[in-house]
Amino acid sequence: MSPRVFLTRRIPAPGLDILHAAGLEVEIGQDDPERGLDRAALLRGVARADVLLSLLTERIDGAVLDAGARLRGIANMAVGYDNIDVAAASARGLPVSNTPGVLTDTTADLTWALLLAVARRVPESERYLRAGHYRVWGPELFLGADVSPGGSGVPKTLGIIGFGRIGRAVARRAHGFDMRVLAHSPERAEIEALPDVTYAELDTLLRESDFVTLHAPGTPATRHLLGGRELGLMKPTAFLVNVARGDLVDEAALVRALHEGAIAGAALDVYEREPELAAGLANCENAVLVPHIGSASRDTRALMASMAARNAVAHARGERAPNVVNPAIYEAAAYAAHAQSRS
Ligand code: GLV
Repeated sequence: MSPRVFLTRRIPAPGLDILHAAGLEVEIGQDDPERGLDRAALLRGVARADVLLSLLTERIDGAVLDAGARLRGIANMAVGYDNIDVAAASARGLPVSNTPGVLTDTTADLTWALLLAVARRVPESERYLRAGHYRVWGPELFLGADVSPGGSGVPKTLGIIGFGRIGRAVARRAHGFDMRVLAHSPERAEIEALPDVTYAELDTLLRESDFVTLHAPGTPATRHLLGGRELGLMKPTAFLVNVARGDLVDEAALVRALHEGAIAGAALDVYEREPELAAGLANCENAVLVPHIGSASRDTRALMASMAARNAVAHARGERAPNVVNPAIYEAAAYAAHAQSRS
């Protein structure tokens, strides 16, 4: 019998083609793109599966893993894997894989789209126009903030929090806007070796930046990295952009900061209790809000699906998956014991 891969939800066709070509039996838990997979269906699907191919919309915890006695591995179609309890997977001898690299530029591009949109009030002015309010041009209509030095010639400061692949790609684009770039990340020595980026402690970065962008992973250590105190350190003219994970920011504190004008605006791709928004966020005119579309280009999503599928095939075959996030698993006793228990 062919190994069965359980896809929590449909993925783009190039990924499905790889799974079929590898001879895997493919089961899709939820085929309606407008709906998520409910927990009972997830547990039922996992119970029949040799490999789980998940999205960031599913919480893969110990209970799900316990339901999957036959599982050989988990392939997440996302670079982030905070939806998966990796420690619980490792304890059960399961490799977990993700899709790094292919979405770096696409996510960095969205960061800039959001940064420019919130600074220049693009969605807000579009709402005004579509609502039929544009009757006469005026010299003070929708005044926003410069991103480049603009006529003043004063360079703006970009503060990048999280300086992995995406943070670096955001920094590269900043040079086109003649910005001074600060970065804060655990990779301090690497940042200090760069000629055109300056390492800053978090508070300094927040105090000095005109734009702060977030690119750190979602972990217990980064939860509420920016709360009321930190937002209070930002300039009242500064903007926050979050394309990383919602719980990096205390969203209720952010709503207060936006309403009170403690910061000038925010642009968010991710939310603390996604897809729910904190009370009051949706009516902040100085917030640009999009539904987690950081990696949503056709090409990138096809590449992510292909990468997740190749990882899933490797899990199914008991081979080392190309993008495993817990690589020590292959040498772990739990892995050997679990493989033994299945045979
Ligand atoms: C998107 O948020 C991802 O982690 O791929």
